[in-house]
Amino acid sequence: MDTRAGKGWIPIGRVDDIPRQGARVVATEAGAVAVFRTGDDEIFALRDKCPHKGGPLSQGIVHGRKVACPLHDWNIDLGTGRAVAPDEGCAARFAVRVSDGEVSLSLAPDEGCPER
Ligand code: FES
Repeated sequence: MDTRAGKGWIPIGRVDDIPRQGARVVATEAGAVAVFRTGDDEIFALRDKCPHKGGPLSQGIVHGRKVACPLHDWNIDLGTGRAVAPDEGCAARFAVRVSDGEVSLSLAPDEGCPER
C-alpha cells in the first residue's frame, strides 16, 4: 500500500522544532514515537522504547546515526532501529518524510528487526 498519498501520515512540525542531535516525542495512536534529528539534519523516528528494558530513547544522545539509550547506554541505529552489537534487539521504526522543512510521520510501525 502506498501511504505517501496522505492517509496514515501526520504532520508533526518543522525540522527546526527538533533539537539537533536530540529528539522530540510525539504521542500517537501507535504510542510514543521519538523523532530524532542528527547533526546533519537527517530525521528518523523510532518507538520511544529501548529494546533492552524500555528506556526512553528520546532522552538519549544522538551521535552520528545512532542514539545512546539514557538508561544503560546501548547504542541504537536510527535507520534500522537495531541495537549495535554485541547487544541485540530492535526498536520499531516509523517512516518520516520531510517536505519544505515540514516533517510528517507515518503511523504504521515497522516492527521487528530488518534483514541484515
Ligand atoms: S533500557 Fe536502554 S540500554 Fe537498557
